[in-house]
Amino acid sequence: MSPLAMNMRFEPAAGLTGKLTPPADKSISHRAGLLGAMSSEPVRVENYLEAADTRSTLDAVRALGALVEGNDGQIVIRGTGLREAREPDGPIDVGNAGTLLRLLPGWLSAQQGRSFTLDGDDSIRRRPVDRIALPLRAMGAVIEATEGSFAPLTVHGERLLAVDHDLDVASAQVKSCLLLAALTADGTTTVTEPSRSRDHTERMLLRAGVEIEREGNRTSVVNADEIQLDAVAVPADPSSAAFMVTAGVLVPGSQLLLADVGVNWTRTGFLRILRRMRGIVLGDLEEESALLSPEEPTSDLDVAHGALEGTIVAPEEVPLAIDELPLVALLGCFAEGETVVTGAQELRVKESDRIAGVVEGLRGLGAEIEATADGFAVLGTGGLRGGTIDSLGDHRLAMMGAIAGLASREGVEVIGMDAAAISYPGFLSDLRTLGALG
Ligand code: S3P
Repeated sequence: MSPLAMNMRFEPAAGLTGKLTPPADKSISHRAGLLGAMSSEPVRVENYLEAADTRSTLDAVRALGALVEGNDGQIVIRGTGLREAREPDGPIDVGNAGTLLRLLPGWLSAQQGRSFTLDGDDSIRRRPVDRIALPLRAMGAVIEATEGSFAPLTVHGERLLAVDHDLDVASAQVKSCLLLAALTADGTTTVTEPSRSRDHTERMLLRAGVEIEREGNRTSVVNADEIQLDAVAVPADPSSAAFMVTAGVLVPGSQLLLADVGVNWTRTGFLRILRRMRGIVLGDLEEESALLSPEEPTSDLDVAHGALEGTIVAPEEVPLAIDELPLVALLGCFAEGETVVTGAQELRVKESDRIAGVVEGLRGLGAEIEATADGFAVLGTGGLRGGTIDSLGDHRLAMMGAIAGLASREGVEVIGMDAAAISYPGFLSDLRTLGALG
C-alpha cells in the first residue's frame, strides 16, 4: 500500500438520491491512448479518464514519442505511427495498470531494432505476463520476463508473423495484446477465446479502418500499413457506475439516475446478474450481437432500492462481469438465499487476490461467505453488521468496502481508501452528491 494510505469510515446512509455521470471508462481510455499513439494522424479524445491508471498510459505513450495535448479529459494525441515507437531513455512505468502492462507489448514487439522495459508498482510485479509473452513469442517476439512470468519485462522488437491463437482463459487484455501485435504481423492473425470478453479494442480497430472480423468467439485481424482513428468519445465506465448501482439497490430510500453509462453488451454482465437477483435497474442495454459494431452505446440507468434474491453466476458470465464480482458478493450478503460465483479463478491475479480479499474482507464485516477454488459462495442474511476492511491497495476492494459501509448496520472503516484514485478519483465527491456521506 502507498505511504499515503488513507483510512476512512462510512456510516450507514439514509438513501442515495439524485443524478450523476460516473467517470470515463478506464478500458476505453487506455485503448484510446494506445491507438492514438499508433495512429498516423492526430486523434482527438473526448472524456479521457483522468485517473492514476490512465495517466500511466499517457506517460507511457509520451515516453514512446507521442505528443499529448489538452487537459480535463479533452486531449489530442499526435502519434508516432504503427512502426515508429521511439526507444525510451529508461524503463516505462505502468504504475498499477495491468491493462497497460498487457496491451503495450503487443505494439512494441514489432518495433524492430528497439528494446523496451516495462515495470510498475509492487502489485504489477505480482501479475503474470507469461499469458502474453508465450503467444507473442509464437509470433516471433523476443521477451524477457522476471522469473519467466513477471515485470520488469523487456521487449526486443522483431519482425512478427501472424499466428492462430487459442486462449485457455477469456481475457480481453490478452486478446487485445495479440490483436495489436496482429496489426504489424505478416498475414492474418486469429484469436479464439473460450467465451466472449470485452470487445473495446475490436470496436476501436474497426473504426480505425482495420480489416477485422468476428465469428463466434474467433476474431481475425489483417496486418495494416497504418491506422487512422478520427475521434473517440469515451462513455462513463459501467464498472465505476456499478458501485453507485450497488449502493442504490442496497440502501433503503435510494433512487438515482446514472447518466451516459457505457452499455456495450460485453460490459453489462453485472447488470444482467443484478436483474436476475431482482435488483431494480432500468436502462437501454445493448443486446448481444454476432456482428462486430464500431459503436460504444450508452444509456442512462435508473436505480432504486429493493429486495434481492440469490443467484448462481456461471463461468461464461464471468468475463462479462469480471471487475464487478466483488459487488456480486456484497449484493449476495443482502439477498435471500445463496449467491455463488464459479469459474472466476482469474480474480486471484487482479490488483490483489480478489477471492481472498472479498471473502476475508466481507467475513470481517459479518458476512457468511466461503472461498472456493474458482470463486465464492455467500449465504444472504438480509444485511451486514459492519467493521473494518482492508483494501489491500486494490481500488475495487476499497470502493466495495465503502458501499458496504453505507448499506451496513454499524458502518465500515476502509483501510487504504486512497486506492480508489486508481480508477475513480471523484468517488467520495460523487457519494456526497448523492447524499450518502451525511
Ligand atoms: C480489462 C480486462 C480485464 C479486466 C481489467 C480490464 C481490459 O482483465 O479485469 O480490469 O481493459 O481489457 P482480464 O483481461 O485479465 O480479464
